[in-house]
Amino acid sequence: MKKRTRVTHPPDVHVPADNRPLVAPIYQSVKFTFDDVGETRRYFGRQREGFYYSRSSNPTLRQLERLLAELQGREDCLLTASGVAAIATPLLALLRSGDHVVYFAELYQPTRALIAGMLGRFGVTSTMLSVDDYAGLERELASRPTRLVVFESPSNPVLKIADIARITGVARARGALTLLDNTLAGVHDHGQYDVDIFAHSLTKFASGHGDVMGGAIIARRELLDAMREDAENIGPTLDPHAAYLILRGMKTYFVRRDAQCRNSLRVAEFLAGHPQVERVRYPGLARDPGHVLAAQQMSDFGALVTFDIRGGLETGSRFAEALQLFAIAASLGSTESLVLPPALLQPRGLTAEQRAWSDIGPGTVRLSIGVEDADDLVEDLRQALFAAQ
Ligand SMILES: Cc1ncc(COP(=O)(O)O)c(C=O)c1O
Repeated sequence: MKKRTRVTHPPDVHVPADNRPLVAPIYQSVKFTFDDVGETRRYFGRQREGFYYSRSSNPTLRQLERLLAELQGREDCLLTASGVAAIATPLLALLRSGDHVVYFAELYQPTRALIAGMLGRFGVTSTMLSVDDYAGLERELASRPTRLVVFESPSNPVLKIADIARITGVARARGALTLLDNTLAGVHDHGQYDVDIFAHSLTKFASGHGDVMGGAIIARRELLDAMREDAENIGPTLDPHAAYLILRGMKTYFVRRDAQCRNSLRVAEFLAGHPQVERVRYPGLARDPGHVLAAQQMSDFGALVTFDIRGGLETGSRFAEALQLFAIAASLGSTESLVLPPALLQPRGLTAEQRAWSDIGPGTVRLSIGVEDADDLVEDLRQALFAAQ
């Protein structure tokens, strides 16, 4: 073989079957080959296992999909390149022109934009409610056929806790599917509820280190199979290297989550006793409006703490800029603590009434709590609150 040929066909390295790597390798290959055409055709006919093209499936992705499906307590999982793709893919695959969707003012802004804007252009109708308005939800679902109810719990950023049994109960009774963006609660929680589709941003707690993006759709097999062809044709695929990094992050998922939740409670308790703070929202605080429900539904209280600073928008900006350990940055769930000041949190695309439902005020600050020492985080918050006055 000439050198020019050799470099494109390097020597094979055989790893004996009884000599496995402890860490699964990254299958950083777009293509997988069968030795003959007949086997390739059998693969396409679903008569044999295998892999062909990584836009459809890949062993590294498959390992992560199986892990996440098991943790969430569902049959299967489909990975996507981002959290928003894990929300967009089921919506695009399952909805038809003329279908009706119920969603909430408290949802992540791009989800609202996708439902009202993009899907609206394709003839999908939608109704926005407040996630607190259970009577409104019952009325809406009774008044017209609805294909899908899209919700979050805890909501971002105000951390309202949705009554999952109530929402899924009324949706099931009226023949609507439910999609829960479970990013804030995590891949380990809420599996006991009758949710049809879980969507996750793996960019957050699952990967955990702020260095990779990803998403997951987790559901029963029949629903995922109904999305697969559209997903393959749209191509929201996760790269194998990203899947490998998320698999690595998952090894410390519970250790990080425990530390982040512990730190969050310390931070919430500190803020609740501070004169510069008007209101704290953390479901782990006994007097939080979502505490009782969160204690029933979740195995922890999460790692976001949201509060209202006295003085509003400008004091909030001064506070965020005075922090030394908390970076002013988007996203959440990573090892490092982050802050979003009121000026970066104001909801877009809502009427005055819907803004009131969202409960985001002029002084609302969102903290994403990392794994640092809680004493250092509290000291940093104390000095920044003082500096912001
Ligand atoms: C609740 C929630 N859902 C979805 C997303 C989108 O995830 P990604 O940034 O991975 O697309 C985010 C991102 O902040 C989020 O907070």
